[in-house]
Amino acid sequence: MKYIIINLSPRPKGTSSMLKDYFAQKMHSNANDVEKCNLYDYLKSMNVLLDKVKTSDSIVLIGPSYVCSYPADTINLLSSMSESAGVLHGQSLYGFIQGGMPYTHTHEHGIRLLENFAENNPVEFKGGFVMGGGAVLNGQPLEKIMGAKKMVPAVNAFIDHIIKDEHSSEALYKNAAMKIPSFITRILAPVMTRQIKKRFAAEGINYNAKSPYL
Ligand SMILES: Cc1cc2nc3c(=O)[nH]c(=O)nc-3n(C[C@H](O)[C@H](O)[C@H](O)COP(=O)(O)O)c2cc1C
Repeated sequence: MKYIIINLSPRPKGTSSMLKDYFAQKMHSNANDVEKCNLYDYLKSMNVLLDKVKTSDSIVLIGPSYVCSYPADTINLLSSMSESAGVLHGQSLYGFIQGGMPYTHTHEHGIRLLENFAENNPVEFKGGFVMGGGAVLNGQPLEKIMGAKKMVPAVNAFIDHIIKDEHSSEALYKNAAMKIPSFITRILAPVMTRQIKKRFAAEGINYNAKSPYL
């Protein structure tokens, strides 16, 4: 099997990049051939990246959650893969998305995006993994993630599924996610809102102004 792991974050030393290396290192010992790339190195030479995708049997996309989905250039990558004849030919597709917030439900949109993409393209979606708390980790080793005791084995199990080319279920990451009691959310939400309002005020942004889009 030949694998390609693509970091979808523009940050070369961020959490997605660390995960790309973590995945590659685990997969190297079991898999035949693993290539790792940063999408942002190829924005001006997308054909080079497309050639690597074409010769792979399995595609692993790892990226941050930007407003609840992967960064916009991911769409650029997906459209290029879709529009270039022969690049997609039945490969397996896996997605990993990690965001700042500790929960999983908003980041899941990224995984749905890949699932929808696979429904309309010659590629087989085999599962996604959602991890909260990636901003606090900020590129440090995975073992330092909040709730590492559950999260690290779950990420390792996801990598095992990729190596075995089998489906990975949502339950894997949902069971590993930190359970945040609702009273904590009730305390934190107004505190965070106050902080954001203060920053807006400091930058002269009037959040009560009428939206230009309405
Ligand atoms: C433009 C932008 C939008 C973001 N949107 C979200 C978001 O909607 N939800 C969230 O939890 N984190 C959000 N984040 C935080 C990132 O998902 C988080 O810091 C992530 O760990 C960055 O990964 P990286 O180090 O691989 O770039 C956003 C960050 C940026 C720069």
